[in-house]
Amino acid sequence: MKTIKVGVIGGGGIAGAHAKAYLKLPFVKVVAVADLMEGRAAQFIEKYSLSEAQPFTDYRELLKLDLDAVSICTPNVSHHQISIDALRAGKQVLLEKPMSVTLSEAIDMVHVSKQMNRMLSIGFQPRYDPNMKMLREIVQSGQLGNVYYAETGGGRRRGMPGGTFISKKLAGAGAMIDVGCYSLDLALNTLGHPRPLTVSAFTTNHFGTNARYHPEASKFEVEDFGVAMIRFENDMVLQFKISWAMHMDSLGPTIFLGTEGGIKVTPYGSGPWAGIWNDKVGSMKMFQDDEIGQISRDLALVDHDLNLFHEKIRDFAEAVRDDRPAPIPGEEIVIQQAIIDGILRSSQQRKEVSVELPLNITEV
Ligand SMILES: NC(=O)c1ccc[n+]([C@@H]2O[C@H](COP(=O)([O-])OP(=O)(O)OC[C@H]3O[C@@H](n4cnc5c(N)ncnc54)[C@H](O)[C@@H]3O)[C@@H](O)[C@H]2O)c1
Repeated sequence: MKTIKVGVIGGGGIAGAHAKAYLKLPFVKVVAVADLMEGRAAQFIEKYSLSEAQPFTDYRELLKLDLDAVSICTPNVSHHQISIDALRAGKQVLLEKPMSVTLSEAIDMVHVSKQMNRMLSIGFQPRYDPNMKMLREIVQSGQLGNVYYAETGGGRRRGMPGGTFISKKLAGAGAMIDVGCYSLDLALNTLGHPRPLTVSAFTTNHFGTNARYHPEASKFEVEDFGVAMIRFENDMVLQFKISWAMHMDSLGPTIFLGTEGGIKVTPYGSGPWAGIWNDKVGSMKMFQDDEIGQISRDLALVDHDLNLFHEKIRDFAEAVRDDRPAPIPGEEIVIQQAIIDGILRSSQQRKEVSVELPLNITEV
């Protein structure tokens, strides 16, 4: 069996999940780890018993090795530069979410991946939930008729991070790109990546900037709540809402309304940190009319105990080994970066704005 050599860039929390998943794959060897904090890569190698891995503090040194692929697990602000450097060094890239901080970075990353003929796959593990796949198949099969409205998002009642996540310069945005990116991926992937035209949005940070609710209130520069109406070219609108904090338990389910039917989807789990689409589907209900009248039925969910994160790593590693295209290509995710960019501009300008997305994103 062909073995592939992988490097992990960033040795923090989520890199550990990458390491554990790679260790389960007999055809993968993790041969290098880079973390800019002195000693952290070596600690990481020891912690995960990566006996064949070399430690680095500068990821550019790691990129000089003969590697097939890298996992990029560093903070959002560094995603652009490290991805570009890795692609230019000829590596296949699995990048943690969100893809980037700005839209222009995301476009640049797609262009370099095309120029270098290397994959740039973005880490949205909920796509591996069989029920998420079933939802997409139902919507794409036309069973709902023409979908003209979708509503997605989610909210934590109280779940605001701190540190780099609340710095505008380092994170780019707040709840929207930290957890909202999952909802947007769910909706856009289900709808087949339609082209957005305009956005009208409102964002605020009443909780983050209030010392009663956040210990770093004076440093809180991003949004803790956002809502947007996004208009698409096929006469469809998406309402998107997200919160890190609110006086409410939930922002409601994700729904798809079509001319022939509707579907209501709720996320898995409960409690103040639930309601965010970074895990499995909890329930799905379909609404239609038959010859007698209106009917609604719970859809039978696929009962599974898949570790979605491991599935994401396995699919990427197999794509590298088998020379397949990127499982979750950057050119799909650039659409949500364009929406987020529109949300930030619309909210700042207090009016509807056009989404700025090049006509052919893959053109180099
Ligand atoms: N898919 C998921 O479920 C999921 C979950 C959590 C986090 N994430 C994403 O993963 C990324 C990392 O999050 P985390 O929670 O692991 O953060 P973290 O702070 O725990 O780890 C980041 C690590 O990267 C290192 N680092 C920073 N800049 C670097 C550079 N230039 N070169 C090498 N190392 C560098 C830091 O020293 C740190 O050790 C974020 O983009 C986050 O959004 C994804």
